[in-house]
Amino acid sequence: MNRRRDAVAIFPGSFDPITNGHLDIATRGLSIFREVLIAILVNADKRPLFTVEERVEIIRKVFRGSRRVRVATFSGLLVDYAEEVGASVIIRGLRAMSDFEYEFQMALMNRRLDPRIETVFMMPAESYSYVSSRLVKEVFQLGGRVSDLVPPVVERRLREKYRTRGGRATGEAV
Ligand code: PNS
Repeated sequence: MNRRRDAVAIFPGSFDPITNGHLDIATRGLSIFREVLIAILVNADKRPLFTVEERVEIIRKVFRGSRRVRVATFSGLLVDYAEEVGASVIIRGLRAMSDFEYEFQMALMNRRLDPRIETVFMMPAESYSYVSSRLVKEVFQLGGRVSDLVPPVVERRLREKYRTRGGRATGEAV
């Protein structure tokens, strides 16, 4: 049953911004699947820090040189998009039990919507088990160090973003 090794695996999410935890999961995905398609949800309800165009550009930079990683945006149902791009696997990262309930519900709903698409959960390295985009933004904004938690390009873009938004409360050089 090695059929899906040849598969395109879709790794969906908000990636606002991509963290080392996401990077870890995508890399693990590459060790199993032929191609990993990082798919950024265009969500009109959310107010992201980075626009989808910025997120695409950042992720492209992070994976520059990895020919088996692609980046795209999608809206609507994930399974419809997966079908459209020929992906038969959905990758999701599971950091802790607290992620499980939501992920389990999503996986089963996606299976109900399209039983041909399999969800695969992957665990990041323990050192990233507490890392989330939301916490990274909060910590950075409050002057905390995030350099071990995000790729260098993300740290740079966070600095630029908060500078154009009026800087951080700490007044630290940006
Ligand atoms: O990074 P996130 O915000 O946890 O990612 C959530 C995402 C993008 C995977 C999820 O919201 C999604 O797949 N949305 C697309 C709409 C959809 O298919 N909804 C039904 C999923 S059960």
